[in-house]
Amino acid sequence: MLNIIFFGPPGSGKGTQSKMLLKKYKLEYISTGDILRDHIAKRTPQGVEAKALIDKGQLVPDELVVQLLESKLTENKDANGFLFDGFPRTLVQAYILEGLLLKINTSLHTVIALDVPKEELTRRLLNRAHIEGRSDDNEIVIQERFREYDNKTFPVIDFYKSRNMFIPIDGTGTETKIFERVENVIDGVVKESSYNVVLIGRPGSGKGTQGEIFAKKHNFHYLSTGELLLSEINKGSEIGKNVKSLYSNGISVPDELIIRLVEEEMRKYNEHRGYIFKGFPRTLIQTYILEGMLRRMNTSISLVVYLDVPMLNCFKRLSKRAQTNDARPYDLTTDLIIGRMEEFETKINPVIKYFKSKNKLVRVNGIGSLEEVAEELDQILVKSLKKII
Ligand code: AP5
Ligand code: MG
Repeated sequence: MLNIIFFGPPGSGKGTQSKMLLKKYKLEYISTGDILRDHIAKRTPQGVEAKALIDKGQLVPDELVVQLLESKLTENKDANGFLFDGFPRTLVQAYILEGLLLKINTSLHTVIALDVPKEELTRRLLNRAHIEGRSDDNEIVIQERFREYDNKTFPVIDFYKSRNMFIPIDGTGTETKIFERVENVIDGVVKESSYNVVLIGRPGSGKGTQGEIFAKKHNFHYLSTGELLLSEINKGSEIGKNVKSLYSNGISVPDELIIRLVEEEMRKYNEHRGYIFKGFPRTLIQTYILEGMLRRMNTSISLVVYLDVPMLNCFKRLSKRAQTNDARPYDLTTDLIIGRMEEFETKINPVIKYFKSKNKLVRVNGIGSLEEVAEELDQILVKSLKKII
């Protein structure tokens, strides 16, 4: 998701720039001013309450605005993102927005503030009065709107500055020129955003092969806990020796150890578009742990791909690999393979259910040639990631 706020005093061009932006990015537009005017036109109880205040140039109460906005957010929780125009306008609204976005598993990306001198703002609004005839576009009410802005809305700037989200841009010049500045900011935000993909699937479903191909092609960091453990074994480290004995007894590796390795790896490699996690998380507990780790880095799990291959096919693939030089210590006997399959079947369902409920799960058919599966995975991932931002 891409969530943007257009910030600025009355007449700064929030509405104008929003229209241009919506043409480029398919975002859900939320203009509290428009929503309120719609209620006024329909003479709803909220509209009646709002009209009296709007006509005086005063802000309407936070409770009323939030009431009207909340349903718009929850009804569109699958949107590509939201563009907020004229919201939040008070510190309370800024906190509320944070909470509402969290509720639908997303967060704000940037606040673009249009900087325009007061004389120019007044000129624009008085000019608009002739064109649109808005009841609040007259000299006295405009002054009151500026006062409300200075007193109640201006403090919101510090809130977003402290979160490193506040980007002021010059709001003077032609509409196209200003839009170029807006586009520049958004392109930068999109480039900086990271995506994190979790690949799940039965042992032998091809997660490793496919994850590596995708990561290389799209500049992700491929992070496989299986391979991290294997490299410890090969190094002959203390961890490695410990893990080797666990493997040969078919006992799973404790969470503490895995977490330590994942955290270390994430600290080492963070210059890329995001991580492709393979083989982690594989339980609900590990899922919560990974979410916490990513949250601390100001990011999150963007998407979970379930690479679906029936058990029998996986079994055949693993038994075949066990005969080659690529054999893994945990593939060497049928019992070990069965043990891993059982572990997957019992632990993964809650993980699948969890991500399904968050609308983050996509299924990819893992049967087919290596190239065919890579192609399908590529298409689905690229499309889903585009939807996220
Ligand atoms: P709202 O509708 O949001 O009004 P506003 O913030 O006063 O902003 P405007 O719509 O007047 O200006 P804009 O920045 O969108 O500029 P525009 O693009 O139109 O809110 C109205 C009222 O509702 C509030 O006063 C409040 O009472 C209430 N309300 C709304 N949200 C609320 C909330 N969250 N909490 C509490 N109360 C709330 O441009 C202005 C004019 O300039 C246009 O004519 C345009 O064509 C022109 N123009 C645009 N760009 C340029 C340019 N580059 N050069 C020359 N002219 C330009
Ligand atoms: Mg507007």
